[in-house]
This record gives sequence, structure tokens and C-alpha cells, in this order.
Amino acid sequence: MSAPVDAPGPDVRAPDTVPLGPPPADPPPALRIEDYRHRARRRLDARVWDFVQGGAGSERTLRANRRAFARVTLRPRVLVDVAACDTGTELLGARLATPVGVAPTAYHRLLHPDGEVATALGAGAAGALYVVSVFASRTLEEIAAEATGPLWLQLYWLRRREILAGLVERAAAAGYRALVLTLDAPQLGRRHRDARNGFAIPSGISAVNLDAALMASAHRSDAGRSALAVHTAEAVDPSVTWADLAWLRGRSELPLVLKGVLTAEDAVLAVEHGADAIVVSNHGGRQLDGAPASLDALAEVVDAVGAAGCPVLFDGGVRSGTDAFAALALGARAVLLGRPVLWGLAADGAAGVAGVLGLATEELAHTMALTGRPALPAVDRSAVARGAAAGTAAGTAPGTGL
Ligand SMILES: Cc1cc2nc3c(=O)[nH]c(=O)nc-3n(C[C@H](O)[C@H](O)[C@H](O)COP(=O)(O)O)c2cc1C
Repeated sequence: MSAPVDAPGPDVRAPDTVPLGPPPADPPPALRIEDYRHRARRRLDARVWDFVQGGAGSERTLRANRRAFARVTLRPRVLVDVAACDTGTELLGARLATPVGVAPTAYHRLLHPDGEVATALGAGAAGALYVVSVFASRTLEEIAAEATGPLWLQLYWLRRREILAGLVERAAAAGYRALVLTLDAPQLGRRHRDARNGFAIPSGISAVNLDAALMASAHRSDAGRSALAVHTAEAVDPSVTWADLAWLRGRSELPLVLKGVLTAEDAVLAVEHGADAIVVSNHGGRQLDGAPASLDALAEVVDAVGAAGCPVLFDGGVRSGTDAFAALALGARAVLLGRPVLWGLAADGAAGVAGVLGLATEELAHTMALTGRPALPAVDRSAVARGAAAGTAAGTAPGTGL
């Protein structure tokens, strides 16, 4: 006998109807770096958001940085003892709990009132390296006083060399452990979002390590122009060449790291001119639009200088520990995060920075376990294959999540 049509059948919706209790009062913990991006966006002024997220020109290189990760697949090995996975590494004499560090980014007080001091606290909590930008909005000494992990200072080559020389001296006195010279910005990239917004640094925030007179133009808003582009043209010397590096080397005993190398030719020149390390970077797609994705340039640079023993760092488009794993497998000794750290800072200050770096490190350790590579020396090229884009495996569709 068949059941009447209105008789209750088996309740196929039962799993959905189990009472779950009230939703948690606090926002759920961030599970992915991406969660910090959403939180930051809600908190930030639209012009600051554009400054952080934007790239140069058509933003083709910005997008390429992410797409390159979608072409990497991982090659897992099984029956390897992964009971303990060690993300620890050593870089220019410093022991680090994680190979994931903080890339130099300017004006952290745009993101959080404590600015770079919060970033230093977050990086220290995660056991990570922090590369402080010369355009920091807290003094080098304030940052160093709070930092619990290693700090490096990033520089642009300023026209006024006496200012550069003064910064180098202050960095050494405050305990910074290396100088990072950024090479890919003799002019500022054509960042249309900032030009459209007439973006300028608000008057309450400034690059306090530099002369106020030198920085004046960075605060002057002008429709259709980026104040930062005007300022760079005034302040940065576009005429420097490899031969000038000897001048900087002669000013400091600190190791010299060269950031913004994308070709084997320049990598070889960097080593010939005494670089202690290189950062493969296209400035997060903010400088030369049309430059290769950082990840696509990495192996070429590693192959050019690996024999010379020059460590190669990497930045550009890393949004997870899996991405970090891919860059490490392709030869990077360490991986730096730019925008994700700013998202963490905007979302939750020092705790957000520590959260972003901690998530990346946890995901890296997890990926090491599931690929059967329990220590970083085992994270080598045998761990990755590169081919056509695997859907949106790197996490985001074009135009989102950058
Ligand atoms: C808002 C912002 C400011 C930046 N400021 C600097 C800087 O002052 N000096 C520098 O060498 N690079 C700077 N960069 C580039 C980063 O060091 C890094 O190369 C890039 O952000 C890495 O890409 P990612 O953001 O995809 O991680 C900046 C990047 C962003 C997003």
C-alpha cells in the first residue's frame, strides 16, 4: 500500500534543521588571508584602498602575478615521516621561524594609527622578518624599540645623497640588519587609480624619517595627478647606475640586498657588484606594466646566481602558504608579503599582521606535510610542476582578490 501523499516521508532536510544555537557574537576567526582583505576593505577609505590594491597601467602585471600561481601544481610524495614539519630558516645570519616575511610598503599609518610599530609587533609575534620602507610613517628608532624580530631597511636612491647617508647611519645605530635598495622605480609607475583620485598623503601622516621639505609634494592633492608620482620625480635620482652602488657599499657594513631584479642579466650584475641577496619582484605590479609575473622570473634568477650562493627572495602575488610553498620550491629562500600584511594591519593592527603571517606559515607547514617535505631544503623543484592555468586554483578570478 502506498503512503498518502501528505504523509510525512523521511525528512531529507533534517541536517539543515538541527538547531545550531545562536550565531557567535564575535566575527569568526579568519581562516584564509583573503578574509583579512574583506575586513580591510570595509574599514578603509576608497582612495586608500585604491592606493593599496592598485597597479600600474592596465594592471596586466598585477594580474599576471596571481595567474602565475594558478599554473603551478604540487607533486606530493607519500610515506614520508611528516610528524614534525619545520618552517625555520636562516637568512643573512638571522634565524627565522618562518620564511614568510613582510615586504617594504609605505605609510602604514594610512592603515592603522600605530602604523609600522604595529607591523613590527605583528611580525615579531610571527617570528618573521620585517623590511621597513624608507617611507615609513613611524621613525626607524620607534619601530626598532618595539620590534622583537629582525628588521631590514629599504631605501630608494634619493637625489640628496647626504639624506641617504644619514638614513644608513641611523639604520645601523638602531639595529637594522640589512639595507634593501629598490631598483625598479627610477620613476613611479603610471598608477591610474591614484591619478584619478588625485591621491596625496593626508597631512596628519608623513614619511617621518625624511626631511619635511623633501616630502612636501607628497601631500599636495591635484586632480588627475598622483602626488606620489610628482614626489618621486622630485626626490628619486633616476640617473644612478651599477657603478654607483660602490658609494652605498662604502657607507655601511650592513649587507646590501637588491630588490626589483627580474632577469638573469641583472642578477649576474647584482652579484658582480657585491649584492648579498636579491629580491625577485615587480613591485606588486605597481611599476612596469608588462613586466613578467614575479613567479615567472624566479627560476631564471635563481639559476643565474644559485652557484654564487647568493640568496634569492621573492615577492608578488603570494596570498597563501601554498603560494609561498610554490615560490620556495622554485628556489626562493624567503617570500615577502606586501598587500596581505596591509590588510591584516587595517583589519586588526598588530594582531592582524601576526594573523596573516601566522596563517601563511601554518598553511606552508600543512602543504609541506601533505607533499611529504618536512623541512625547507626538501621543498625543491621536484615538488612542483608548471603548466596551463588550473582553473582558478590560485584562488581568484581575474580582477578580484589581488
Ligand atoms: C601600498 C604599497 C606600498 C608599497 N611601498 C613600497 C615601498 O615603499 N618600497 C618598496 O620597495 N616597495 C614598495 N611596495 C612593493 C612591495 O614591497 C612588494 O614588492 C609588493 O607589494 C609585493 O606584491 P604583493 O603586494 O602582491 O604581495 C609597495 C606595495 C604596496 C602595495
